[in-house]
Amino acid sequence: MDTIIEPFRIKAVEPIRMTTRAERTRLIRDAHYNLFALHADDVLIDLLTDSGTSAMSAAQWSGMMRGDESYAGSPSYHRFEAAVQELMPFEHVIPTHQGRAAERILMGIVAGPDAIIPNNTHFDTTRANVESTGAEAVDLVIEEGLDPAAQHPFKGNMDLDRLDALLDEQGDRVPLVMLTITNNSGGGQPVSMANVRGAHTICARHGVPLFIDACRFAENAYFIKQREPGYADTPVADIVRELFAHADGMTMSAKKDGLANIGGWLALNDDAWAEEARNQLILTEGFPTYGGLAGRDLEAIAVGLTEIVDEDYLEYRIASTRYLGRALIDMDVPIVQPVGGHAVYIDAKAMLPHIPPLDYPGQALAVALYVAGGIRGCEIGSVMFGQQADGSEQPAQMELVRLAIPRRVYTQSHVDYVIECIAAVNADKASLSGFAITEAPDQLRHFTAHFAPLGESAFA
Ligand code: F0G
Repeated sequence: MDTIIEPFRIKAVEPIRMTTRAERTRLIRDAHYNLFALHADDVLIDLLTDSGTSAMSAAQWSGMMRGDESYAGSPSYHRFEAAVQELMPFEHVIPTHQGRAAERILMGIVAGPDAIIPNNTHFDTTRANVESTGAEAVDLVIEEGLDPAAQHPFKGNMDLDRLDALLDEQGDRVPLVMLTITNNSGGGQPVSMANVRGAHTICARHGVPLFIDACRFAENAYFIKQREPGYADTPVADIVRELFAHADGMTMSAKKDGLANIGGWLALNDDAWAEEARNQLILTEGFPTYGGLAGRDLEAIAVGLTEIVDEDYLEYRIASTRYLGRALIDMDVPIVQPVGGHAVYIDAKAMLPHIPPLDYPGQALAVALYVAGGIRGCEIGSVMFGQQADGSEQPAQMELVRLAIPRRVYTQSHVDYVIECIAAVNADKASLSGFAITEAPDQLRHFTAHFAPLGESAFA
């Protein structure tokens, strides 16, 4: 059969509160045109993030009932640790309340004022955790990874020549190299096994450890199975084990490919770093066998890790993201290609060439999608990245709107509805006008900035 179905039935449902266009026009105006300021029940289809928004399975919910809340040595921790080590055989597994806590602890130990941390592309919290120690975060993704229209099966790959050159010239300043799979900030693009292996070889030659930011490891492994010669018949779980065999450690947000609503971990082989990490963990997260999580959360992750490498699930997951992407390509809406794993990224700069980057075409598009159909996406462009440390403003490299797809939450008719809304906005796109920022904090302004429309628009 050609139809790829959702490989699950639905046992518990959450109602979606329907809204009218007139209501949404008022609601977004009252929210100062910032989609983060909306009440989530005023959103029909929430594609703000795939993080922490997964639907858990019956097995995960029953695992939660088994959660053991002992302060120290909980059996839930041991089940969690075993589930992680089944896929990622690192010596030390340190739970954290989410991914950025693992990043903060790791960077607190290894980085500092003179350090350089290379990555294919740092996710924004990773970059912030590097920079907050005084270190420099350097992005070394291959050139194709910066061109939304370029076709390449592994656009998340690290530029290994530049990595090698950096380690040759300034290796003594690099305490570790990171590799983000899939590369979220670059469009959810995968990294090939050859690239991970190559990065590891270069790192080993320079005596520098390689750490994987593993948030979407299962989606990355599935792309390897589909696209990299030699892996078509390898079980995804084996691909995952091979990926992590090339690394010395990892940070993880279980809110993505852990299929859980909260949680994360830091895993590594180095005993001295692990000891320091556990000491840091106790200061801010909790005892090393719960790390800021409840025992029941550890159970949800342990079960989630067995479900995320299920190939029927991954086939459906990647097919449903591709289904949305293909529909947009068919209607000539420019998107980052090939379609990534967890999200479709619309190229707002190409779609709305009449709106200059610093009039925020991504924000204009995101607001229009909300007004048209109650869809909430996320601007990833000059609103998010334009603000410079010295208070000035520079256009971002790309002006994207990310439509991130929560795992196991929406069905095909929800996606068809999203496609119809985008078609409506696309038909009227010349009428969209840009936005000005009227109020913003000094940092991370996208979360709280206020906007005002710069002209009349059919969707504002
Ligand atoms: N690394 C990557 C690649 C991420 O995408 C995220 C989160 C993190 C680290 C941090 O994990 O949220 O658990 O602290 N990404 C979310 C997103 C927020 O919407 O893409 P966290």
